[in-house]
Amino acid sequence: MDVIISKDYNEMSVYTAGIIAGFIRSKPDCVFGLATGSTPIGTYKELIRMHKEEGLDFSKVRTFNLDEYLGVGIDMKKPYHLDQSYARFMYEQLFRHINIKEENIRVPDGLTKDAEKYCQWYEDEIKKAGGIDLQLLGIGGDGHWAFNEPGSSLSSRTRVQELEKQTLDDNYESFYKNCGIDRSQMPHYAITMGVGTILDARNIIMIANGKKKAKVISQSIEGPVTTQITASALQLHKGNVTVVIDEDAASGLKNLEKYKRL
Ligand code: PGA
Repeated sequence: MDVIISKDYNEMSVYTAGIIAGFIRSKPDCVFGLATGSTPIGTYKELIRMHKEEGLDFSKVRTFNLDEYLGVGIDMKKPYHLDQSYARFMYEQLFRHINIKEENIRVPDGLTKDAEKYCQWYEDEIKKAGGIDLQLLGIGGDGHWAFNEPGSSLSSRTRVQELEKQTLDDNYESFYKNCGIDRSQMPHYAITMGVGTILDARNIIMIANGKKKAKVISQSIEGPVTTQITASALQLHKGNVTVVIDEDAASGLKNLEKYKRL
């Protein structure tokens, strides 16, 4: 596992986008796993800049998003700040700014009528695409990957997951509050790739910034592997894992001298 410490959010984002761009250049039809949340926004901004200024080409790239709220679907009639879907987030933060083909994009469908069947279909689609080459991940305040809340099996697959109080609180603070949406109206369930699905990705990049991630970063990198911190499963990954974090998120790590600084 490579742990790389940047001085701030911007440096983390630019470095991460650089790794992703290198990957896309070496395999233009790569299968790229995408994450939502506030952490990857800077990375997506840099990828957009590279597309516009350096011709980074997404025309053959295929993507799979990690998760979507259950019962929520993209609604282009709504202004962005009132559309709670992750599909809309991806459209606004990345897809509409690059030359990716719509048919190459997969975001779990929160409006599915048969979630169990749908989750199996999503797994099959990943397999059909040849598996995920590169998975980008954030980490939740409770140490989750995607919506794999504490207690999720480390071999779990794509499924419906109930959200924990901390995740609801975090998401309310980072998103819903600004939309004027009442906390009681937030979705309480999501479709999420499982920890096992994520571990099947051939390469993983996890990013985190800020003091509030310091504890879960140290638990996931230096702590025991546990279902209580599902991101700790990165220690079980068989391929390449790169963790890019800023100094604040790194501040809880014990073996700082072992890690690379940008
Ligand atoms: P955040 O969310 O990027 O908004 O902190 C991360 C996550 O929940 O995975």
